[in-house]
Amino acid sequence: MPVADTDVVVIGAGLMGHGIAQCAAQAGCRVRLWGTSRDEVESAIARIGTSVAKLHAKGRMAEPPAAVVARIEPMTDLERCTGAGVYIESVVEKLDVKQQIFRRLDALAPASALIASNTSTIPIARLAAVTRHPDRCLGMHFTSPVPLMPVAEVIRTAATTDDAFARGTAFVRALGKEPIAVQKDIPGFVFNRVNLPGTVEAIRLVEMGAASVEDIDKAMRLGFGRPMGPFETADMVGLDTGYYALCSLHAETGDDKFRPPDLLRRQIEAGHLGRKTGRGWYEYDAAGERRGMAPLP
Ligand SMILES: NC(=O)c1ccc[n+]([C@@H]2O[C@H](COP(=O)([O-])OP(=O)(O)OC[C@H]3O[C@@H](n4cnc5c(N)ncnc54)[C@H](O)[C@@H]3O)[C@@H](O)[C@H]2O)c1
Repeated sequence: MPVADTDVVVIGAGLMGHGIAQCAAQAGCRVRLWGTSRDEVESAIARIGTSVAKLHAKGRMAEPPAAVVARIEPMTDLERCTGAGVYIESVVEKLDVKQQIFRRLDALAPASALIASNTSTIPIARLAAVTRHPDRCLGMHFTSPVPLMPVAEVIRTAATTDDAFARGTAFVRALGKEPIAVQKDIPGFVFNRVNLPGTVEAIRLVEMGAASVEDIDKAMRLGFGRPMGPFETADMVGLDTGYYALCSLHAETGDDKFRPPDLLRRQIEAGHLGRKTGRGWYEYDAAGERRGMAPLP
């Protein structure tokens, strides 16, 4: 990996942004983590501190946790995030918000820097189109929880140079992730093109009363060897994040298999967003332990 690529800016301090920042810091990079408020970034860094302490205690990370955390600088002023080698955008899955970030990154990043998005579904070309240098834009799509998952998609557009794609691939590998090369910039890439239709179908099965949330999860765990069922995964990912991903995929493809089910929309409207709100498809206590299935809205 070129030395410049060890200087990283992560934009978005939510579930994914903090995980990506953690992995980059564990890989020895200097990381600036940008969030919308001081509180958000500080709580993201506190979560990273807890996570690296656990990894260290389990013997899965040799370096002292404090040394890893010390490589991460909290940021709330994007204009101060100049001079890095790799910029990774991981804000909410909304085209206009991501385009706004890409416009600002294009203005402040060095000409040699990579500008990547962790979008789940939005074609990278739509983000690259608002920049003056689409050739250095690409997708780096991680999965949750980022510090534990050993894979990431690397997505190229028609404009991405071979050099940018190779650098993005090397970067992902340096973070300990097996890169999956996505050669066509299609909405949803590979992970979500394969995975989300199954999630939609699972919600529709609950809507039609075919089986319970718990039984469908059990079916997918025991029958197909998945570590988590679709509802357990959705609670971890965030129902809002899944909903926005489906809205974007449906809008991009027009394909009804990606239309967000009404039951999911009602969950969002009720504020039941999964683990982060203590209730989604399941209910959780204050310690985050699952109590059982939540009533459906
Ligand atoms: N959750 C997952 O499992 C998962 C997996 C892969 C990719 N992704 C993608 O990662 C990205 C972030 O998802 P997440 O799960 O971290 O969500 P999250 O809700 O935890 O974090 C979203 C972040 O976006 C920020 N944000 C919201 N509105 C903003 C605005 N107007 N301007 C700037 N920042 C704004 C929030 O402050 C927050 O830091 C999304 O594109 C999502 O599709 C999520």
